[in-house]
Amino acid sequence: MTSAVETTLPGSAGAGTSNVDELARIVVRCMACEERFSGADVLTSCPACGGLLDVVIPTRRKLTPGELGVGVPAAGRHSGVWRYWPLLPGLPEDALVSRWEGNTPLFRDIRLTRYAGLADGHLELKHEGHNPTASFKDRGMTVGVSHAKAVGARIVACASTGNTSASLAAYAAAAGIPALVLVPEGKISAGKLAQTIAYGARVVQVEGDFDVALALLRELTAAYDVYLVNSVNPFRLEGQKTIIFEMMEQRDWQAPDWIVLPGGNLGNTSAFGKALIELHAVGLIDRLPRLAVIQAAGAAPFAAYHASGFEEFAPVEAETVATAIKIGNPASTTRARRSIELTNGWVTTVSDDEILEAKAIIDRCGIGCEPASAASLAGLRRLVRDGIVGVHESAVTLLTGHILKDTDAVAAYHFDNVGGGPRSGANRPIRVAAELSALEQALADALHR
Ligand code: F0G
Repeated sequence: MTSAVETTLPGSAGAGTSNVDELARIVVRCMACEERFSGADVLTSCPACGGLLDVVIPTRRKLTPGELGVGVPAAGRHSGVWRYWPLLPGLPEDALVSRWEGNTPLFRDIRLTRYAGLADGHLELKHEGHNPTASFKDRGMTVGVSHAKAVGARIVACASTGNTSASLAAYAAAAGIPALVLVPEGKISAGKLAQTIAYGARVVQVEGDFDVALALLRELTAAYDVYLVNSVNPFRLEGQKTIIFEMMEQRDWQAPDWIVLPGGNLGNTSAFGKALIELHAVGLIDRLPRLAVIQAAGAAPFAAYHASGFEEFAPVEAETVATAIKIGNPASTTRARRSIELTNGWVTTVSDDEILEAKAIIDRCGIGCEPASAASLAGLRRLVRDGIVGVHESAVTLLTGHILKDTDAVAAYHFDNVGGGPRSGANRPIRVAAELSALEQALADALHR
């Protein structure tokens, strides 16, 4: 550690004594060598072997749905994350930082079910864009930032394709902790950058892609006392598990056959596998759904790894219109592999055109999402066509971010016809003179849309 910088960089303030006792009761375990650590430690990889870490949640005792709400601290009562208290790490109540995250809707729309190719009533869409900063990241962030606060972190940091940075900036602001975020220059949407700036994080635009930014940040956090909140942080993933908990609760604890989600850095894939195993262990679901991870064809190292029978992993140079998942070297690959193996899951790819078409259809149903989210529906449609998912099987797809996260993508689709030819359903505004006769034509057009 360079002492000249050390004196100017804030270090850890250290946890208060009561916090240390509560944190020490939390066990963190390496998924590779099984070495155990205390929740009072700030770790994003195993100090012994470099493996990824899991928070250990005791699951020996069976739980009823009613028991899930037992012990929820008052500070988390309105949160769609903290209300699953018995299956989360027991952080000190005075450290909880919540913005009423979670509590997101589970939608049905017959047009989307038919688009996917499933029998009527067999598709639901869990819309995580309905979170406080408009993406699923808030679920992980409430836990990650609460842990940061509990251990007395003086600064929190992440690398991001835009949603993690927006979420971290908001939760750090809520906690009163400074935040540093690294984003790939010119490669995140304007809306996400605007959120991150407005919530007050120090934004660094790195020359390079997300993978370069994350590698750089990990060098920084290895050398300095900076709390890393990317999804290699085991506490963040604990919050993301609640997407599954809430989804199952909304389905009266009946597991669907498939859960379909977009894959980028593979944090959600990792969290979902852990959530399902835990729910099954405590008896809240009686079977495991299969996870299907969908990657953009230009950013699909995990799909290639899966296709090789998990024999060969090779990072790629990522390229896709879905900037949120433009990631070539996912940090959680080994953990995500475990999720696919444990759930007999699947991984596939979709083209940018398939993503944009699915997005336009989701938007047109009055649901809306950002491009990366639509990869899930596009992927499900592909899997039904390929015969991997049966027409009479049930599926829940995950919509990860709100339509307003990427308005440039909307404009490109509807106005610019990027990629040539008019897009199906393109909806270009028209200009008219301020005269009733001109409006009459518009009225006739509108009636036939
Ligand atoms: N969908 C959206 C909207 C995302 O922002 C992300 C990831 C993903 C899907 C993929 O999730 O990484 O868990 O596989 N966004 C990160 C970020 C990388 O920095 O905001 P994953």
